[in-house]
Amino acid sequence: MEKETTRKGAGPLETPQGVVLHIADLRVVFHTYVGTVHALSGIDLDLREGKITGLAGETGCGKSVTAKAVMQLLPSTAEVLSGRILFGGEDLVRKTPSEMDAIRGKRIGMIFQNPRAALNPLFTVEEQLYFLLHRHEHLGRKEARKRSLALLEAVRMGGAKKRLRSYPFELSTGMCQRVMIAMGLACSPKLFIADEPTTGLDVTVQAQVLELFKHLVYEVGSTALLITHDLGVIAETSDYMGVMYGGRMVEFGTTEDLIEHTLHPYTQGLLRSSFTGEDDDELHYIPGVVPDLRRPPSGCVFEARCAVCVEECRVSVPDMIEVENGHRVACFQAGAAGIADGGKAGSTRGER
Ligand SMILES: Nc1ncnc2c1ncn2[C@@H]1O[C@H](COP(=O)(O)OP(=O)(O)O)[C@@H](O)[C@H]1O
Ligand SMILES: [Mg+2]
Repeated sequence: MEKETTRKGAGPLETPQGVVLHIADLRVVFHTYVGTVHALSGIDLDLREGKITGLAGETGCGKSVTAKAVMQLLPSTAEVLSGRILFGGEDLVRKTPSEMDAIRGKRIGMIFQNPRAALNPLFTVEEQLYFLLHRHEHLGRKEARKRSLALLEAVRMGGAKKRLRSYPFELSTGMCQRVMIAMGLACSPKLFIADEPTTGLDVTVQAQVLELFKHLVYEVGSTALLITHDLGVIAETSDYMGVMYGGRMVEFGTTEDLIEHTLHPYTQGLLRSSFTGEDDDELHYIPGVVPDLRRPPSGCVFEARCAVCVEECRVSVPDMIEVENGHRVACFQAGAAGIADGGKAGSTRGER
């Protein structure tokens, strides 16, 4: 894998037309006592205005590191080796911590997994919303209460007035996630980043939260990055989707294109293991394990698990190539015969 020790990033800071967030060649490593972890090896991602973009991939592929890099919430062991994250004519990689403080929560809203843990247990819902509204919008107590009530109503919180006075422990997990979304929305951010917002919620609440999420993104005219390992959630919610594997983006396009005309064997394997046909009672999985990112492979990152790989895949890293209409894929074998059957496509047949 190519190593880079200097930060790239000179040049114009405008995002491409219709794009709210433009990530280019983002490389992040973690320095740990067991070695250097190459968490992101050159991610490119554009978030289109007024659209929901889903980010999928197995645990450990770099979804959360991507979100944290955008928000400058990476731990001190992380190092951004290269890349640009353009937002509103500025490069977020180059922002100072205090400049980022002014952007987070105001221009970029965040929603994380485990909403109960993300809320402060010592303060009521009203106080938590007040901190945000006072800090970023300079609202007084009275105006903040009015706005908070409207926000809770917007996220369809039953008994909103009463809920303002509730502490997190008095709320169900679904209600906590509504409060998180209300906080994410409080300053009408241009961009929302939601990292596994429905993981851990039961299916009914999950469906309600996703409906709400869609409604709010399209109503408020915001733009969203929806990170989840659950392809079903992305299929139902996102306009565009990116699939990550081993710290790289391997396929990107409209959700429809990725599902209907899947080009990467990894995406195909993920789809097979997420959705089974009506007559199919087998559990499908992708054989093998994700690569050790302390020693990323020198060729394609998916090569060891791929059924259609050839010699070239072992020695060179495939670039993301546009196939059509913004549908991009990083695979030397994209479109090769048999690729539609997806990787080594393991199944439980014969094992039971
Ligand atoms: N604080 C850290 N220290 C070392 N490695 C980390 C740290 N955080 C994440 N990583 C590594 O970075 C890679 C990407 O992690 P992450 O973005 O959290 O994955 P996910 O796609 O599940 O959100 C993984 O290999 C993970 O082990
Ligand atoms: Mg994660």
